[in-house]
Amino acid sequence: MSELGKERIMKRIPVVIFGAGGVGAALLRQIVDGRNRVAARNQYRFEVAAVTDSRSCLFAAEGLDDAALLAAVERKRQGLAVAEGKRPSEIEIIDRARQAGWEKGIVVDVTAVDGMEPVLDHALAAGYGVALANKKALAGPWQTAQKYFNHSRVRHESTVGGGQPVIATLRYLLDVNDPVYEIEGQMSGTLGFICGQMDGGIPFSHAVREAKELGYTEPDPREDLSGKDVMRKALILARMAGWPLEEADIEVESLYSPELADLSVPEFMDAAAGLDETMRLRVATAQTEGMVLRYVAEVADGRGVVGLKPVPAGSALSSLKYISFRTGRYDDEPLLIGGKGAGVEMTAAGVLGDMIDLAREEL
Ligand SMILES: NC(=O)c1ccc[n+]([C@@H]2O[C@H](COP(=O)([O-])OP(=O)(O)OC[C@H]3O[C@@H](n4cnc5c(N)ncnc54)[C@H](OP(=O)(O)O)[C@@H]3O)[C@@H](O)[C@H]2O)c1
Repeated sequence: MSELGKERIMKRIPVVIFGAGGVGAALLRQIVDGRNRVAARNQYRFEVAAVTDSRSCLFAAEGLDDAALLAAVERKRQGLAVAEGKRPSEIEIIDRARQAGWEKGIVVDVTAVDGMEPVLDHALAAGYGVALANKKALAGPWQTAQKYFNHSRVRHESTVGGGQPVIATLRYLLDVNDPVYEIEGQMSGTLGFICGQMDGGIPFSHAVREAKELGYTEPDPREDLSGKDVMRKALILARMAGWPLEEADIEVESLYSPELADLSVPEFMDAAAGLDETMRLRVATAQTEGMVLRYVAEVADGRGVVGLKPVPAGSALSSLKYISFRTGRYDDEPLLIGGKGAGVEMTAAGVLGDMIDLAREEL
């Protein structure tokens, strides 16, 4: 085909991105770096119409050029807002893209905030696709979350497994009618790291401090230690598998006691030493039985448990980031998905994969 012919069928897909933190910035870099390859392979081109953080919005009706996208990444790296000035609401931003003539496109939620449902609903009602790394809309009350699980224009590969094909695998098992009995795994790289350090005798509070210093935890490590993020992942997998659990149906073990909840972060980091002896005993008890302690999520029909559990040392589950599916066809030997722990690049790649899939299948 002539170059002119190729040009004629190149589809331009507008993208509105909410969130320009670790994952958002990595996604922008990957869109810029991969633009030519994606265009050559698929004959479409993502045009980022808007990049938005909590304070501001960078917008270009025709799509932001690569220099503008990389400048936005650099501004975020320097701790600045993505653009000068205040921004319109999320819904107004989507409407601005539509008014610019973009009838079909993709809205990406790489924020970590609650309350994005009206924004996602607005995008879907407008015919846009939605790609999520933010788990919160999918893990809200089933009554509001249900519609996202069966919607043909919603993708969320990065919500569990941080870009590893966990969601795609579950979708495949469901598509081929293999009954899913149980899903189990370590779903937090941060908690996996802390457990791994404790295996070697490092006290719990030291392991938490090390994880924080390495940037593995949220600024307040209690957000990781509460187990809530793992609970959301378990809820998403359960709901996909056809078990419409609510948050209250999942038993969650927090790795800190309630009286530490109201302390400042520095106070908490010091007070966590009070948990060391209990943890040491639990680790030691597990080890005398040839086990290691891991923070594991298990879901099955009607139930979910998230918390510390002794697992056989050297087993797949004792390694970081394995998720196992026990199904009709994988009953004695569960299907395992695992690999390198996730980070922002892998998470962003999962979102980019979702965008490509939406563009290919739905737009
Ligand atoms: N990090 C990972 O490895 C990983 C792995 C799997 C899934 N995830 C999920 O991916 C999402 C993003 O993670 P992250 O690490 O990139 O978080 P992050 O660094 O905290 O970034 C969040 C971004 O969202 C922006 N934001 C907040 N409210 C907004 C709003 N109403 N509209 C638009 N933007 C808004 C923030 O703006 P400001 O910059 O102005 O604060 C920030 O840029 C989270 O939901 C997380 O759970 C992350």
